[in-house]
Amino acid sequence: MISNFRKNKSDSGTENIKSLNLPKHIAIIMDGNGRWAKKRNLPRIAGHKAGVEALRDVIKTCSNIGISYLTLFAFSTENWKRPTQEVNALMELLVIYLRKEVSELHRNDVIIKVIGDISKLPETAITEINKATEMTSNNSGLTVNIALNYGGRSEILLGVEKIAKKILNNELKLQDINESVFSNFLYTKGIPDPDLIIRTSGELRISNFLIWQAAYSELWFTDIYWPDFKGKHLIKAIKDYQKRKRRFGGI
Ligand code: IPE
Ligand code: IPE
Ligand code: MG
Repeated sequence: MISNFRKNKSDSGTENIKSLNLPKHIAIIMDGNGRWAKKRNLPRIAGHKAGVEALRDVIKTCSNIGISYLTLFAFSTENWKRPTQEVNALMELLVIYLRKEVSELHRNDVIIKVIGDISKLPETAITEINKATEMTSNNSGLTVNIALNYGGRSEILLGVEKIAKKILNNELKLQDINESVFSNFLYTKGIPDPDLIIRTSGELRISNFLIWQAAYSELWFTDIYWPDFKGKHLIKAIKDYQKRKRRFGGI
């Protein structure tokens, strides 16, 4: 069935969101899948499945209200520490998700991008990621960045390495390095810093997510577990964001 994101605009209370002062870039630490499952006496994997389901409403809402960038923390460089069975299940879910959802995202003009070192992912996952990013690369709607095998520290180190190589090859001068030049050596090159970072599940930390880019992001936390997070919660976060005064160090 062909569905269009722009239907049912009133679902999430999007009708009275102020289009002025909308965050351009929202990033989400989608946490709490395991606890969501535990609460229901289900295996952790069931929580991850439900977590994937939760993506639809959130992406649709972002697209509807005109958010430009949505970055989703899906798998961290530290998540490899989990039992192999869980890691494998997460990789399989990624493949299933992309196979199932990419054409609808494409129809809705969504651009799919990935941040992180995907070379360490299973071959099937890399193939689906490449298909999805290529298929949607000429779209002009919401950009969804999926953070996979992503870690802020490793991203910064990789940037330092790339810069050092350029200097050694005389392609860059030491005195020309500045914050904006450095940003171009990160996965998020060309993407504005997140205005709003949301973390679900009650944890009050960044967990190595976008640590360079988050320097002046507004943070919003909720106790809701990720699988229960809906467009209406996102709208609440945006409305709270719109009440905040960002000073960037000024007065
Ligand atoms: C987030 O949910 C998903 C990933 C980190 C892949 P968790 O799996 O971390 O859920 P909790 O924190 O154990 O509840
Ligand atoms: C952060 O959640 C990573 C993702 C949501 C993908 P974690 O569950 O891995 O974070 P910690 O371990 O509680 O800090
Ligand atoms: Mg967690």
